Amino acid sequence: MKNLADHDSFVDGVPHDTFAQMRKDAPLHWTPGFVGAKGFWSLTRYADIMAAQRVPEVFSSAQGIRIEDQSHEEYMARRTFQETDPPEHTITRRAVNPAFAKPVVTKFEPLIRELARDIVAKGLQEHEFDAVDKIAKTLPMLMLGRILGVPDEDLDWLVTRGDALIGNTDPYFTDTVIDKVDTESYRMMPFRSPAGVQLYDYADAVLRGDKKVSEDGILNRVRGQIEGLDFKNFFCLLVAAGNDTTRYSIAMALHLLATQDGLLQELQKGTDFETAPDEFIRLAAPTLHFRRTATQDTEMHGQTIRAGDKVLLWFVSACRDGDAFADPNRAVLSRAPNRHMAFGQGGPHVCLGMWLAKLELRAVLQEIATRVKTLEPVAPPTWTRSNFICGVKTLPIRAHLK
Ligand code: HEM
Repeated sequence: MKNLADHDSFVDGVPHDTFAQMRKDAPLHWTPGFVGAKGFWSLTRYADIMAAQRVPEVFSSAQGIRIEDQSHEEYMARRTFQETDPPEHTITRRAVNPAFAKPVVTKFEPLIRELARDIVAKGLQEHEFDAVDKIAKTLPMLMLGRILGVPDEDLDWLVTRGDALIGNTDPYFTDTVIDKVDTESYRMMPFRSPAGVQLYDYADAVLRGDKKVSEDGILNRVRGQIEGLDFKNFFCLLVAAGNDTTRYSIAMALHLLATQDGLLQELQKGTDFETAPDEFIRLAAPTLHFRRTATQDTEMHGQTIRAGDKVLLWFVSACRDGDAFADPNRAVLSRAPNRHMAFGQGGPHVCLGMWLAKLELRAVLQEIATRVKTLEPVAPPTWTRSNFICGVKTLPIRAHLK
């Protein structure tokens, strides 16, 4: 079994065999402490994670949601509403929810389709290309800009900062690799990252009115409802959460279309565009886990989780649990119902951006299905060195057009 605390265990992709073994033999698994961090429990079965999600008063988000141990001071400096529990969480969630609701996002559909058409057409001008760079990256970036209401010319910069936050364990994305260099001076910043400082400055400029944002964007809508540090952390959350996850889901879809026999033809039947996005996102499960902290002693699988212990909910493992999904490692585009947990379903923090992510993926899939005859891998994908995010860094691919 690979050590889940070690980011290097993920450099060749998610260690799905380890998760399968844990689901079978060690459904409540303890990883001992390591340099700079306390040990943690792992939950890997769908049913157990769902049960934990339902009781946030027992498995709390209010002491941090990543493996890292934070002092109370650090937690207070960096927290967003994602790091709070009901009823406190519910107040902010209600305030921001309308901006992400399905009907609001559906209004973006014509724009998303237009952008997807343009991006896929440009990407396919080359016979062989890196599908992350040429296709998967651009649509989430442009849509993040529209949702936030920031100018297009800032997007490249914002996205590289977001990548540095999410990829803070991989030298591909940052010089300040969290487990390799001393990040003490950034401990009060999002993801202990210098990119957090730069994003705070940008958010400050928005708050002061020095950076103009569009009236109908989220930043303008929540300005006034969320203030000061809370606004800055909310901004960082959106830059981090709203971009890479969708990019990696699109990349995983393209990877599977290039490698799973007959999948592109199945997609081209045109009957599964409603269900296919969820199936690809289930298999991508880009946010591998989120952490909770036990608020009381709890018995599970013959062991005791003590109050104060960290408990990781491995959504990536739940998404491939054979007790919840038939043929769990294969993409079945017509899968319905598909109650996967890649969006953290079952708990109060279920992803706010899921309608947007699904719409973007669907638009890309439709363009690929229309234009491409076959997709082939040119080289294996490269993966982010991270036990938090399943990131496809590069995906060299060859496309034969219709
Ligand atoms: C395929 C793409 C995406 C995946 C797989 C994903 C995954 C997740 C997961 C697992 C959670 C739950 C976290 C927890 O339990 O603590 C979450 C929450 C969240 N996501 Fe996403 N996400 C995606 C796209 C997006 C997008 C596009 C946005 C915004 C534009 C977004 C914004 C958020 C926010 C704000 C939360 C916090 C909600 C809360 O705490 O109430 N996500 N996401």
